[in-house]
Amino acid sequence: MRGTPSLSPAAGACVVPIQVRSAEEGDLPAILAITNDAIVNTTAVWSLTPATLETRRAWLEERRLKGYPVLVADDGNGALGFASFGDFRPWEGYRHSVENSIYIDAGHRGRGLGRLLLGALLDEATRQGKHVMVAGIEAENTASIHLHAGFGFEETGRLRQVGRKFDRWLDLVFMQRLLDR
Ligand SMILES: CC(C)(COP(=O)(O)OP(=O)(O)OC[C@H]1O[C@@H](n2cnc3c(N)ncnc32)[C@H](O)[C@@H]1OP(=O)(O)O)[C@@H](O)C(=O)NCCC(=O)NCCS
Repeated sequence: MRGTPSLSPAAGACVVPIQVRSAEEGDLPAILAITNDAIVNTTAVWSLTPATLETRRAWLEERRLKGYPVLVADDGNGALGFASFGDFRPWEGYRHSVENSIYIDAGHRGRGLGRLLLGALLDEATRQGKHVMVAGIEAENTASIHLHAGFGFEETGRLRQVGRKFDRWLDLVFMQRLLDR
């Protein structure tokens, strides 16, 4: 799974070619660093304990075994962000639905990388014959809500105060998009 889309640069900025490709073992340290920055500094993910290289490796392996993609956006110097989808819920009746995750390095957000990765995830989910992609998003995560809305995701659920991090309650917004319409 490879592609070399280009970013739409701000006026006067130089164009850095970004490749969207499948994650490899060598991407795990970058994936770990991006994950842990999100765990420690944001409410995007509701883990409270930093991940380890071993847990990220096991996750990559599990996604591969199930045939699910783990994609990275690479500027030639390594992964600047990653994205994946997996089972929405583990029971068989949910087999046509997947839930995504997208994380961009804090120093590279707002440059269009999230858009590149979400577009690639949607293409792959469609190719796999999936019917629905779900995103579970903390209600105040305007960047993620805006990103998903731009691809036609609609809010279809809002769970009040189901999470707690940084000493406050968090609401979870579910957005979803039908893929084969
Ligand atoms: C959310 C995230 C994945 C978005 O990726 P990104 O590369 O920063 O976003 P992009 O540059 O591709 O922008 C996508 C759209 O969101 C908008 N956007 C980006 N950051 C925004 C912000 N802080 N507030 C409002 N809109 C924002 C962009 O303007 C763009 O809109 P457009 O398509 O109408 O032009 C990224 O910010 C991130 O990794 N955040 C921390 C982890 C996280 O929240 N992951 C998602 C968990 S659900």
